[in-house]
Amino acid sequence: MSVIRKTTLTQYLIEQRRRFPDADGGFNALVLDVARACKSIACAVAQGELAGLHGNHAAGGTEAESVNVQGETQKKLDVISNDLFIEMTEWGGNLAGMASEEMPDPYEIPEAYPKGKYLLIFDPLDGSSNIDVNVSIGSIFSILRRDAAADSPLVAEDFFQPGERQVAAGYALYGPTTMLMLSVGRGVVGFTLDPVLGEFILTHDHVQVPEETNEFAINASNSRFWEPPVKRYISECLQGETGPRGKNFNMRWIASMVAEAHRILMRGGVFMYPRDKKDPSKPGRLRLLYEANPIGFLMEQAGGRVSTGEVPLLSLQPSSLHQRIGVVMGSREEVERIERYHKEPASDEQISPLFGRRGLFRD
Ligand code: AHG
Ligand code: MN
Ligand code: MN
Repeated sequence: MSVIRKTTLTQYLIEQRRRFPDADGGFNALVLDVARACKSIACAVAQGELAGLHGNHAAGGTEAESVNVQGETQKKLDVISNDLFIEMTEWGGNLAGMASEEMPDPYEIPEAYPKGKYLLIFDPLDGSSNIDVNVSIGSIFSILRRDAAADSPLVAEDFFQPGERQVAAGYALYGPTTMLMLSVGRGVVGFTLDPVLGEFILTHDHVQVPEETNEFAINASNSRFWEPPVKRYISECLQGETGPRGKNFNMRWIASMVAEAHRILMRGGVFMYPRDKKDPSKPGRLRLLYEANPIGFLMEQAGGRVSTGEVPLLSLQPSSLHQRIGVVMGSREEVERIERYHKEPASDEQISPLFGRRGLFRD
């Protein structure tokens, strides 16, 4: 039998660390704990209904559905995944605190454990509406360095750092294979879980988003609420080779952002969940700190681009833990085009024929 040398996640992290002779290994230990949380979640996801894990979480053993701080119904696996992230990472001595989609406030490291200098922010399970229908879902994480003094109390403001300051970000995708995509600020690498070894093995070195694409992803059921630049862009894509773009486009919508992001990292494309007029109290659907920033960081580290449509997303100063934001990301040329459309006012003609008064998706 021939021996194939494989790079594990541990080996990759150790090799990266050699560039920083003063590093104490704490960061690597934290990433490995996050990876272990993702492996545990992958096991729970794979058990699914065999272990009675589908369906909604019932609060405190009652029949009542539980909702998170954003008013969204929590699935059993949302809560289990959140608990696994906490259990696998709180003990290690490298965290000053955590924040998650499923917790209203920052999570303090229990007194029993030493504290460290990093902050962990996560969406424990992204694409919850796909859990019960057996479609790809994932976990998203972001690691920041805490600025405040080590002995000062943890506050939400500690997490309010622009995305460009992330020390590392990544996601696990629970699809036909389980993958871990990671950036420590020097490009993006991808690992595939070898289920026999229980190890993440480096399978995707130097991931690059192709600059051009003819694939877009957007929830078209919101089209009547879109702003003019988005209507113009989608209208031009839909007109295909007979329109101003002169080429045909293909559309995809999985409804797990983590899976859309993965497709874009693998073969290009553009994903949009833009700010729209559906609910004026919500400036977008996705959350800045644990969805848009970490995925955006990976996009840019892979040569793609992330924007709100108006401004570069990673430079935004966050103002609340569960802040929502409009997101446009993917292949650089398309994102830049959409940014350009936000700067120039669109004429009725550019928005039609699909959205004009007599168009298919009229206002
Ligand atoms: P979550 O499951 O963590 O709440 O996030 C779901 C997000 C994102 O993954 C996806 O792109 C979007 O919500 C789907 O929204 P629609 O309901 O509009 O399809
Ligand atoms: Mn999510
Ligand atoms: Mn989630």
